Amino acid sequence: MPDARKKITLPYLFKKVLDDEPISWLTCYDYPTAYLQEEAGIEMILVGDSLGMTMLGYDSTLPVTMDDMIRHTSAVRRGAPSVFIVGDMPYMSYQPSIETAIRNAGRFMSETMCDAVKLEGGASMADRIKGIVDAGIPAIGHLGLTPQSVSALGGFKVQGKDALMAKTIIDDAKTLEKSGAFAILLEMVPDRICKIITERAEDCIIMSLGSGPVAHGQLLIYHDMFGLYPKFKPKMAKVFGNAGEVILNGLKAYHTEVLDKTFPARENWFIMKDEEFNELKKILD
Ligand code: KIV
Repeated sequence: MPDARKKITLPYLFKKVLDDEPISWLTCYDYPTAYLQEEAGIEMILVGDSLGMTMLGYDSTLPVTMDDMIRHTSAVRRGAPSVFIVGDMPYMSYQPSIETAIRNAGRFMSETMCDAVKLEGGASMADRIKGIVDAGIPAIGHLGLTPQSVSALGGFKVQGKDALMAKTIIDDAKTLEKSGAFAILLEMVPDRICKIITERAEDCIIMSLGSGPVAHGQLLIYHDMFGLYPKFKPKMAKVFGNAGEVILNGLKAYHTEVLDKTFPARENWFIMKDEEFNELKKILD
């Protein structure tokens, strides 16, 4: 086991912004993957409610509960002790009221030991961000394509392509920053909008997911990077390795070897010494 890395903190992230060094951020939902991300030096992890689709097989993120998120976020924390972990607030865990938002953000912090929470929405969610931040919990806003509102947005598509909508996203970003969000994720907005928001950010880290290179860092969905989500691969995701194919080939080989009896081989089972076995036979007789 290599030496433990120093814990990634908010001051560390802001220092990177000051030094003009991009921040790496990935989704993660389980202990073994968190362990690998920690080893790889990833700086931030989002335990996204996308786990409803990637891990639980739902068609959207809407059925995901706080209990689902708590269980997965705790597992990720155990695997990645030094990474800055963000818990994603699931559908209806913050929309009903400021108090609901603070209570559920508090559950994330106390039950999972994550470092911050993320919630979707623009100006209409600014009071939730403010309430959470006033309670001492670091919060991240999420603008552009916000999957919990996918029905209202008309599907998984780029947001802010026309000037008026782009202006709304730019204004929302400033409102969230003023409400205390220490970071904002821009998902699937045109690169030029992301650049404007990044350049105008005063005390806020702007992260891009499919929104171009001019941001303070990048986020990708782990399952899209490694061919692990069978239903679709979004354009913004680069495939860094086809783990899905490797695993599928391994599964087929296992199935074949069990059927043709080449598995297990001698090294895959355990034996008993002759003298003990003879003793056993006597006992059984
Ligand atoms: O749940 C999630 O993984 C997210 C990303 C799509 C940004 O919110």
